[in-house]
Amino acid sequence: MRRVLVTGGAGFIGSNFVHHWCGSYPDDRVIVVDALTYAGNRNNLAAWEGKENFRFVKGDICDRSLLDDLLGGENIDTIVHFAAESHVDRSILTPGAFIQTNVVGTFTLLEAFRQHWLSRNQPDNYRFLHVSTDEVYGSLSADAPAFCETTPYAPNSPYSASKAGSDHLVRAYYHTYNLPTIITNCSNNYGPYQFPEKLIPLMCINILIGKSLPVYGDGCNIRDWLYVGDHCRALDVVLSKGLPGENYNIGGNNEVKNIDIVRTLCDLMDELAENLPVSPSQNLITFVTDRPGHDRRYAINSSKIQNQLGWSPSVTITEGLRQTVIWYLNHRQWWEPLLSEEYQAYYRQNYRVATLS
Ligand code: NAD
Ligand code: TYD
Repeated sequence: MRRVLVTGGAGFIGSNFVHHWCGSYPDDRVIVVDALTYAGNRNNLAAWEGKENFRFVKGDICDRSLLDDLLGGENIDTIVHFAAESHVDRSILTPGAFIQTNVVGTFTLLEAFRQHWLSRNQPDNYRFLHVSTDEVYGSLSADAPAFCETTPYAPNSPYSASKAGSDHLVRAYYHTYNLPTIITNCSNNYGPYQFPEKLIPLMCINILIGKSLPVYGDGCNIRDWLYVGDHCRALDVVLSKGLPGENYNIGGNNEVKNIDIVRTLCDLMDELAENLPVSPSQNLITFVTDRPGHDRRYAINSSKIQNQLGWSPSVTITEGLRQTVIWYLNHRQWWEPLLSEEYQAYYRQNYRVATLS
């Protein structure tokens, strides 16, 4: 039985992970600590609120005394660290928050966990799983081999630089203090509960409300898409079989151009949704000014986790996109409140438009 602290568990991947973990291991104790920033949504965890083995704590990972209380008071043996500022476009507009949460927050969490682990005489079964991104490796040219665990770091955005900084700290805590840390670097996730600002939910929602679909640059940037449930299964495997001090790349083997993702979403919505405001949806596609420093291509070589730990992705991109479109179609009551004044202000600033149009 584990006693797990999930940071950022009210966000997209964190909440999917809580659903996976609480469903798979009902005897484990799960504590979520989440600051509930604009990206955090306690409703994502409603299914577990009130359950005996689940506790939600609103709090910041930069708050050392809160972390000390939680780690000691709950006798935590496992941290799964998702909490982060996670959106590249926001990191270009407001980088300071990324340094604070991603670097200072991860450092604070590592220090708190190190003290806690020492106070319990360094048990073998303790784990600090740091959930990171393939973006730390930078950008690939069209024919370059996919990122593997030994690819040098070359982050290009304030987001990826702050995640790279946190990865380096986590690595250093293993090498310096023997703290049992593991790092995972995953490709772009998609699926239920993803905040509207990211590519796939943004396109789904804009189609449903009849707003233009802003595609950056020529639309030929490539991402390697992974269904979020497959990512959660990979983290589970890493927790049970992964070795401290190791890093594991996780990816879907699904390299797709952004424009092809957007066109597929349009076709799925045209097929599945009734009474769309604009039809066919592809009429909404608008090419807009490119993101500064936009990485051209990401691709993950996940043979290490596949060969050493026996994980592989199970959801095809065709099936995953279909399921995701159906989820956003059926969960208007989840996403409508997220199109808040804060979101509209971000949208106007990022896309340099007068309204969400
Ligand atoms: P998200 O933005 O949806 O969720 C982040 C969560 O962290 C939110 O609930 C937010 O309230 C919380 N949070 C932010 N600052 C905090 C703080 N200071 N203290 C406590 N909680 C705080 O992000 P996501 O997409 O779910 O990503 C989760 C993690 O996975 C991140 O570390 C991200 O770098 C990594 N990752 C994401 C992807 C992806 O495609 N989304 C891919 C690979 C890795
Ligand atoms: P995003 O979901 O922000 O993830 P990341 O930048 O971390 O890969 O974006 C995925 C891709 O989609 C990326 O190449 C940028 C592009 N994109 C658009 O073309 N338009 C948009 O409005 C957004 C949000 C992203």
